[in-house]
Amino acid sequence: MKKIAVLTSGGDAPGMNAAIRSVVRAAVYHGCEAVGVFQGYQGLIQGDFKRLHVRSVAKILGRGGTILKSARCQEFRTEEGRRKAHQQLLEHEVDALVVIGGNGTFEGAMHFYRETGFPVIGLPGTIDNDLSGSDFTIGFDTATNTVVEAVDKIRDTADSHNRLFFVEVMGRDSGFIALHAGIATGAVAVMTPETKITIEELVAILDKGQASNKTSSIVIVAEGHPEGGAYEIAKKVHALEQRYDTRITVLGHLQRGGEPSCFDRVLASKLGVAAVEGLLSGKRNVMAGIINDQLVYFPFEEVIVNKTQQLEDEVRIARILSI
Ligand code: F6P
Repeated sequence: MKKIAVLTSGGDAPGMNAAIRSVVRAAVYHGCEAVGVFQGYQGLIQGDFKRLHVRSVAKILGRGGTILKSARCQEFRTEEGRRKAHQQLLEHEVDALVVIGGNGTFEGAMHFYRETGFPVIGLPGTIDNDLSGSDFTIGFDTATNTVVEAVDKIRDTADSHNRLFFVEVMGRDSGFIALHAGIATGAVAVMTPETKITIEELVAILDKGQASNKTSSIVIVAEGHPEGGAYEIAKKVHALEQRYDTRITVLGHLQRGGEPSCFDRVLASKLGVAAVEGLLSGKRNVMAGIINDQLVYFPFEEVIVNKTQQLEDEVRIARILSI
């Protein structure tokens, strides 16, 4: 194996740059050439490749976003798109590919490997933390800390005005950000599919809090909640109970930006090396992850399975502590 390409795909996540740096440096350390593919799978299809040297990735360890840029590529969902991508890799004499991304990225990589047999390995890069095969994904820690910082600020206003705030956070189909941030900020309730709180129950929780002298209340709402986002849920609560002075904040994409935390930098650095060393030792069609402090490699088929059942403990703790 002489030439290893790396790309970032799907939503950007803080720590992706640290992962790119690690892949490039580990590749060079082990005597390989490193190539960056720009714009995710789109750039793979179009042949948007550039050689990366050890110094090309200097001073990006602490930068948010991704220097390789990212995209959600419809064409790679088709066999024809994946065939073109394979052709580009062969033309550029690339021997293996490292993909950094989330669910969609690995679904694409899984089909790509099945159809071409081209050596590909994945790194978990998503703020959602919804991949099996790693306790934490690169970006989750930073994103959750961003949410906590924002909610702490909102709490100041909520408390000063005796208000009820609904704060909507990201996480697509997964409640990891919502539940972790909810526990860390003392939210009165966390609305995620896993917590199974109905609107009636939510009103009862708020009323109980009011009766026990809570002066402010924060409800964290996970985007994509079956009852709707923060605006819809606030409206439904208002239809049942009008006594609260309510405000709504949707945190949106600010959760994806910013400098990666120490945790994400270290995780990304460890996994970048693991990706290169995994490829060199013959691993393919797997994602490198860390479970219980141990480096593990799981097939793409297994990592794209949702792991929200792991949130049971968080659901229980959030409930106990919000009385
Ligand atoms: O997967 C990361 C994520 O930020 C999700 O939490 C969110 O649902 C989605 O990406 C938003 O995607 P986009 O930036 O393409 O709107």
